[in-house]
Amino acid sequence: MKNKTMSLKLTTDKLKYQNLNKQEKNQQWWEELPMTYEDWDSKKRIPETKEDFLEIEKRFLEESPFIKNQFNFKRFKNKKVLEIGCGSGAVSCLFAKNDAKVTAVDITKQAINLVKTNAKLQCLNINALQQDAEKLTFAKENFDYVFSWGVLHHSQNTLDAFKQVERVLKKGGSGLIMVYNKNSARYYINGLNWLILKGKIFKGYNLRNVQDFYTDGYYHRHFIPNELKQELEKLGLKCTKVFTTHMGHRMLPFAPLWFEKWIKNNYGWLLVIEFEKR
Ligand SMILES: C[S@@+](CC[C@H](N)C(=O)[O-])C[C@H]1O[C@@H](n2cnc3c(N)ncnc32)[C@H](O)[C@@H]1O
Repeated sequence: MKNKTMSLKLTTDKLKYQNLNKQEKNQQWWEELPMTYEDWDSKKRIPETKEDFLEIEKRFLEESPFIKNQFNFKRFKNKKVLEIGCGSGAVSCLFAKNDAKVTAVDITKQAINLVKTNAKLQCLNINALQQDAEKLTFAKENFDYVFSWGVLHHSQNTLDAFKQVERVLKKGGSGLIMVYNKNSARYYINGLNWLILKGKIFKGYNLRNVQDFYTDGYYHRHFIPNELKQELEKLGLKCTKVFTTHMGHRMLPFAPLWFEKWIKNNYGWLLVIEFEKR
């Protein structure tokens, strides 16, 4: 979920993961390149000070206008919130600042170290645990709210992770998941650019695997809104809202702002689904 990703395939040569199992490949990718909102090829990617973490929070909010402008953290006061795939912990800290009882999980050691440091430097209380979204160890019906932003499309079996979301959510609880949208301008414009203008089609790439050049994660599945809704509803979750949004930076710098806004709202890359367990 970052703008400058042109060197991703060079930064992480997937061939070196060939001896790992499917989920280890996903994990190892993120151990090496944790989500810190630094350029993927930057030399200094790991935050250390409180200022570094606050800068990540600022960049996260700039790149997630929906969270910045429309997501109301205050309503989670005293609620048991689970964040799945917390990365360096920007969102878990925002929940904690608003007095939610936060549990943050991530598949990597690196992210758990980061969220712990982040919480400590900001004097916040977060229960941070290294866990795989596909195999959460919590008791069933444990959380009032489950939040996962830009994570589950990277897991080797996204459906198993969805099942866990449903399992750990209390009856009457709710949640939000954001995954990548296949019906998006980015998927097709960048895909066709790399395939045709950059000639990857002649090396055997297709629209799906050419994403490796500019999309984060070992896996980066893209979902069609209606199909995602159906998958979650089959698991017993009631989807209350499905919409698309996009990162904050300019997507089409030469187009009028109204047109860019229209594209982001209708064909944005970030597919958000809100749901309840009844
Ligand atoms: C794109 S980053 C997003 C981080 C954070 N949600 C954010 O928006 O800044 C994806 C995160 O998901 C984590 N992740 C990927 N697969 C996971 C899984 N199966 N279980 C838990 N975390 C996972 C990665 O380690 C990484 O920290």
